[in-house]
Amino acid sequence: MDTSESAVIPAPGVVEGLDHWRSLAIKQQPQWPDTAAAAAVSRELQSVPPLVFAGEVDLLRERLARVASGKAFLLQGGDCAETFQGATADNIRNRVKTILQMAVVLTYGASMPIVKMGRMAGQFAKPRSSDDETRDGVTLPAYRGDIVNGYDFTEESRTPNPARMLQGYHTAASTLNLIRAFTQGGFADLRMVHSWNRGFAENPANARYEGLAKEIDRAIRFMEAAGADFDELKRVEFYASHEGLLMDYERPLTRIDSRTGTPYVTSGHFLWIGERTREIDGAHVDFFSRVRNPIGVKVGPSMTPDALEALIDKLDPAREPGRLTLITRMGATAIRDALPPLLDATKSLEVQPVWVTDPMHGNGITTSTGYKTRRFDDVVDEVQGFFEAHRLIGTHPGGVHVELTGDDVTECLGGSQQIDELGLENKYESLCDPRLNHQQSLELAFLVAEELTKP
Ligand code: PEP
Ligand code: CO
Repeated sequence: MDTSESAVIPAPGVVEGLDHWRSLAIKQQPQWPDTAAAAAVSRELQSVPPLVFAGEVDLLRERLARVASGKAFLLQGGDCAETFQGATADNIRNRVKTILQMAVVLTYGASMPIVKMGRMAGQFAKPRSSDDETRDGVTLPAYRGDIVNGYDFTEESRTPNPARMLQGYHTAASTLNLIRAFTQGGFADLRMVHSWNRGFAENPANARYEGLAKEIDRAIRFMEAAGADFDELKRVEFYASHEGLLMDYERPLTRIDSRTGTPYVTSGHFLWIGERTREIDGAHVDFFSRVRNPIGVKVGPSMTPDALEALIDKLDPAREPGRLTLITRMGATAIRDALPPLLDATKSLEVQPVWVTDPMHGNGITTSTGYKTRRFDDVVDEVQGFFEAHRLIGTHPGGVHVELTGDDVTECLGGSQQIDELGLENKYESLCDPRLNHQQSLELAFLVAEELTKP
């Protein structure tokens, strides 16, 4: 997109430099055919209520500071791309349920608090490797996520439509509302969540995890006997995160906090910069360097220690605990070589980022039948490589970032259900990358818990 034609009008309360990104090179933005319509939507987004509040964002930064210092662990998960149609009560409940179930297992494994975060309530914009897609000789704009255009391969659907940004905002609002209801209203009761996990471990296919599930059982009975306040344990903190990509959405939803005069992106608590938009002199890095939210950056195998140092200096110049999360996505074959030099480099910079493994995006394959998929074993291998690298260098493995759904889809190969290439056809629903299903997600949590209990 040509930034000089950007449709966005600055939000009220301009902070020096906040709009500097407009003068920089920007990637992965749609070409709205009707720029006046896009400007009108941006004006409307400037006046809608924020989805999250500065105080919550600050609390998350404190939670992440604890992760960075090795006293907590982050679990971040959800769809590759949320869709408007998929924002149903059942889908949202199942995803929250899966993340809570995983969190109970991880709490035990880590003997630490787990910071719970969904790739939810705003994960609607997708970076693409090509601007267009051609099918049978017809070329149309690539699908950039429901907040930009439709997935159907017709001209009407693929034409970027700014009205979708408003629908994205309202869908995020209703999703977040239900998440808040579930996590504050009793659904998150530790005893209930654990009883769901017991069912998983009693299944003969998962017998390997029964021992761990029984230990958790005993720990909960002990807490009950010792008089732990289970009323307190009925509520959990749950944070919303997504890739900060679509600037015509993120900028109008950025508000100046009246207490401190600093800008907060209010479309979610935590935003990350993707692998394709993280160049040091690009628009995204500049914009997110100026907001108060905790920020993530994806770190792929091409990252060098020098490039990482430059990013850290730009995004976390004050070395503020909890400010910066580095989400590594190296691929199972690369992680053991690629990660240690980066960990080493940060040690000498006196920075303590949160290190998180995304074992999904470096392990994509396409089957002979044309399905984009990932092998569960590769996902597990990358997670293990991540822990090994941190043990080697003496840094804290801070968390996992996964694409998952609470439903029974067949998108990733393997796991205890042994989904094979033919099995992918049964229930492949993702419009973007393949997700771990409910069972595979729980199995991953048990495996990560085993890593966490290793000396
Ligand atoms: C994603 O998280 O869905 C994604 C596109 O990741 P990356 O930027 O690491 O490729
Ligand atoms: Co993805």
